[in-house]
Parts: sequence; structure tokens; C-alpha cells
Amino acid sequence: MAKDFSLMEDSNRSSNPSIHDVSDPARRTLIRGGLGAAVGGLLAPLGGCSAFGPSADGPLLGFRSVPVGTADTVVVPEGYVAQPMAPWGDPVGLQGEAHAFRFDAGNTAAQQETQLGMHHDGIHFFRHPAAPERATAGLLVMNHEYADDGLLHTDGMKTWSAEKVRKAQAAHGVSVIEVEQRGGRWEVVRPSRWARRITASTPMAVGGPAAGHRLMQTAADPSGRRVLGTLNNCGSGITPWGTYLTCEENFIFYFRGPEQPDAHQARWGLRRGDPVGYRWHEHDERFDAARHPNEINRFGWIVEIDPSDPGSAPVKRTALGRAAHEGATVAVTRDRRAVVYMGEDARFEYIYKFVSRDAIRPGGAQANATLLDHGTLHVARFDADGTGRWIPLVHGQGPLTAAEGFADQGDVVVRARQASDRLGATKMDRPEWIDVDRQGWVYCTLTNNSNRGGQNQPGADAANPRAGNTMGHIIRWRDAGDFDGATFEWNHFVLAGDATLERAEARGTVKGDAFACPDGLWTDARGVLWIQTDMSTSAIGKGDLRNLGNNAMLAADPRTGEIRRFLVGPAGCEVTGATATPDGRTMFINIQHPGESPSERSDPDNPRRFSNWPDGRPDGRPRSATVAIRKLDGGVVGT
Ligand code: FEO
Ligand code: CA
Ligand code: CA
Repeated sequence: MAKDFSLMEDSNRSSNPSIHDVSDPARRTLIRGGLGAAVGGLLAPLGGCSAFGPSADGPLLGFRSVPVGTADTVVVPEGYVAQPMAPWGDPVGLQGEAHAFRFDAGNTAAQQETQLGMHHDGIHFFRHPAAPERATAGLLVMNHEYADDGLLHTDGMKTWSAEKVRKAQAAHGVSVIEVEQRGGRWEVVRPSRWARRITASTPMAVGGPAAGHRLMQTAADPSGRRVLGTLNNCGSGITPWGTYLTCEENFIFYFRGPEQPDAHQARWGLRRGDPVGYRWHEHDERFDAARHPNEINRFGWIVEIDPSDPGSAPVKRTALGRAAHEGATVAVTRDRRAVVYMGEDARFEYIYKFVSRDAIRPGGAQANATLLDHGTLHVARFDADGTGRWIPLVHGQGPLTAAEGFADQGDVVVRARQASDRLGATKMDRPEWIDVDRQGWVYCTLTNNSNRGGQNQPGADAANPRAGNTMGHIIRWRDAGDFDGATFEWNHFVLAGDATLERAEARGTVKGDAFACPDGLWTDARGVLWIQTDMSTSAIGKGDLRNLGNNAMLAADPRTGEIRRFLVGPAGCEVTGATATPDGRTMFINIQHPGESPSERSDPDNPRRFSNWPDGRPDGRPRSATVAIRKLDGGVVGT
């Protein structure tokens, strides 16, 4: 479909408080007595979303584009500075635990449990719990998606042991760090009472319809309510009550499959028999699905974490459905219910929406401790006429009955893919991050799908219009009436591409700087839509991607469709995760897997082959890290 920006002028949702609005001082009166109390509490969650100038009526993009690049550094526009910080392996600041990173990767598993994990991904800046008014101090909460065992251990995977498995598990999960700006630089505060590591072994609770379900019960946990760890934490989200949502994406690849996977296991991509890449099952039997078939059902959830309470157990929110979750983006209806938009990043999988049963209560995380356990999950169907429908995944409705093989609602959420298959949802080109603009349009990156239109594969459709989709696109919809609407209108914000290519299907519709494989997506308080790219290392610099250099971050004006390249990352990285301080004067993004090899596992004998970012030491190794971006004149980032 063609872009239709005329729709953007319709501002009939101006009184509709999205998650961005609730922290906007200009709009806070709209919700006072409801969310106002929660937002005004100890932990105001929406640090990146406060109102700051210039107004949205002025030009949104005030910087000069940076060119495509292939250097092993972060490039930002003239007038900006990019400061790497909080790399993998630095201490998070636990009390009495300050093990320095060893550049030979010689840290033990126990030390890794006290250090930032590997492969930074989703991130959010929370206001400081003890000083919420400060723009120069706060908590950064971030995901560590996976580990490169070639870099993580001194000799990579040449030998394999329980200690290495434990170290890899400790390099996964989530970090909470306290940060402060001192003398113009951002630093990690150590020690900090809020510092925390959550890993693939951290005990967590289960909420919602799958809690205690037979599909969640294992020999080690007959209750089905106490899971160890979170895995492959990719995108992230936040709630208006001050919590962080971390999303479990490609969890299935950690498990060794049985010789004959059953239909359920096969639908979730569990492969037969052979040892899997991470080799955890060799020393941790719960990752052997032949022995513990239900363990896979305990991953693929959205996990809620309260960063203001380091002693709190993370909770897997099963009412939101099980998927290879990329992100979870919360909007708020006029009657203050939470709506969570989620994409499942796998070829031909789906886009979901959860609508809470209850309204958000004042009182922060405690008052909303079970809000995400009750509500209705839906899956999206995009119709060719530019409308769409949210189809409920509710046991007893349509084909989701016992007679059709769905025992109860717990079964429906655990087997959400099978349920969505039955409901005729639209199979998408790898839905990644989602965010909402100031007019209530919800944007979702569809990163790529070269299998679209292939042999025995779904062909192009209205929502996924390109066969052999190497470049990806960004779709957007607006729900009818409010965010809980059962139907929506939709169009394409942009088809990514490079207008200089001969292959017509790869040229795209970009109004501005060329890009491909959109992944991270974040709307800042002024309404700028930030787009981050994840061209895979095996494809980067070749074929349709040959002119695009390293992965990058671009800024889009949703009103005009203009797109400008703002940042180019170091060699072999992906750019992912975005957030900002309450005053908008520092933006934080993550650089994941600098120097990734095409095989996605580094050579331990040559760890600096493709990158030595950010340390540049002759004895070092590339490290994922956060980057704090500021304007030299102290202005708002992006202006
Ligand atoms: Fe972890 Fe879909 O990127
Ligand atoms: Ca991603
Ligand atoms: Ca990706």
C-alpha cells in the first residue's frame, strides 16, 4: 500500500493517554487521580518520555546525516559525542563484588554473575529511585541477548565444561546498573543498592493462565510455577507502573531435541537429536528436551522486572502469550487499561496484542502486581483493503476448544503459534520492535524474510508485499476507537531499500537515507521515530546490502516520512535498544556483537579479527556496550 500521511493529521486521540503521554507534564492533569499517582511515585518509569522542546510543530530532525560507513567505531553527526560505557564484563556494582574484566576472557562463571552480560539489547533509563527529579542520574536496565562462546572463554569451545556452561548462562539475562553523569561523562555507580544481575539461572515466578499448568511442570518443578532463568532477551518494554519487560526470543536453540520431536516441539522449531550450538544440555540436563520435554514451555514469555526492588522475583507473564518475543510495547486506553503490543521475530510468525482486564491502579509496581495476568490476547490479521482485525485467543471461542485439541487457556497461551495458525492470522516478515507515535499509530519493524515467495512458502501479500524480502519494511496500524479496538486501519510507513539497486524489489520507498533490515524502533518524546538496523553478519556488505556499510540508526519524521542516518556502528555490530534521560539531552543505545564473524562465533585464537571496539587494546577483544550520545552544546538529541 502507498503511504498515506493525510491520516497523520487526524488528532482525534489527543486525549488518549499513551504510555508516552502519562509522563508528559503537559498532559499529566489528564490522568491525575489515576496514573498520576503511580507516575509521581518513587520510581517514575517514563524517563525517556517527558516533554521537552522544541515543540512537535517545529522541525523534528535538526542534524546532518552521517554517511554510510565501515569503520570500527561509532560515528554520530557533527556536533555530537558518543561515549561507550558499561561494556560486557565490567562489574555491575554489587555490594562487595567488584571483579574487573579480564581482557583474556579469564573471568570465572562466579565473576561473570557479578558483571554485565554479553550482547546488550533492549534498554531503558529509569529515573533514579531516590532522586527522580534528576536528569543526570538513574538506573539503566538492559538485556543481554546471547553469548558468543568464542569470545566468552579464553579458548572458546575447544574444551567444554560445567563451568563454561555456567559462565555462558551468567552472561545471559538482564543487568540493572546505577548511572550518573559526572564531569560530562556517564559512569556506572559502584557499589549501588540497585545493581542487579538476572541470568539464565535466576529463580522467577510464573503468573497468568499457564502458571502451574501441566505443560509447565517438570521433574525439578512439579508446581510449574518456579522457573530458573530467562533466555535470549531481545527487545524490551516498560510499564506505566515502573517495571521493565524483557522478552524471550530464540529460546528454542538452547535445547537439544529428542530423536523424534512431536508436533508441538516441531512447530516451535525444536530440532532432532544432534547436539545444539550452545551445548548447555551436556552439563545442565534441563536443556535436554528429550529428558525434560516441558522445559521448553517455560521460555518464550514476557518477563516483568521491578528495578526499584532488587530483591523482587521476576515474573513470567503468561497471559501475554508464548512466542519468540522481540519486544513488548505498552499503550494505555482512555479508561487506563494496559495494551501490550508484541511481535514474534521468526519468518511467517505473528503480531500480538494483549488488553488488560483491569485498569492501571495508582501505587506503582505493588499495586499492579497482577495487572498483566488478566486480560485478552489477540493476534493480528491484515486484510488487503487496508483494514485489519485483532482475533482473540480465548479458549472456547472459534477453533480453540477441547474438541479441537486446546484443553484450556493455559494450553492456548503455551501453544500460541498453533492457536494463531488456526485463527487465520497473517504470517509476517519477522515482526521485531513496535512503538506508538503521538497520533496513536503503532509501528512495527518487519526486519526481512528472504523466504517470502519461495518454494512451498507463503507468497507476497498486502502486508508483506515483496517476495524475497531482503530489505524489510515498517508497517503501522491505528486501532479503531482506542488501543483496545477490535479492528484497525493499516498502511506501510516505509519499505526499506536502496534506490540505486537494479533489483526493483530491493529499492524500497525510503524518503531519505537508504537502509535495510529495520529492527530496533523507539519513539522519543518529541515524536522522532528512531530506527535501528540489524543486517546479519553473513549478508552485510553483499548482494542487496552491498552499499549500506555497517549497521546504523536512523531518525524518521512520522509526519513527513523523511529518514536520516544518525549513527553508524562499529564493524560487525548490530545497533539495538534506545532510551533517553528525562530531559532528552542524553540518548543511550546499545552496540551488540561488534566484530561478529559470519559464523556468529568468534575464533578464540583471533578475537580481534573483525573489531576491537570499544577498548582498542592490543590484548583485548570486542565487547558489546552501551553508548551515551550527547550534543556538544548540551541540547536535546536529534534537534
Ligand atoms: Fe533478537 Fe529479533 O532480534
Ligand atoms: Ca532485535
Ligand atoms: Ca534482528
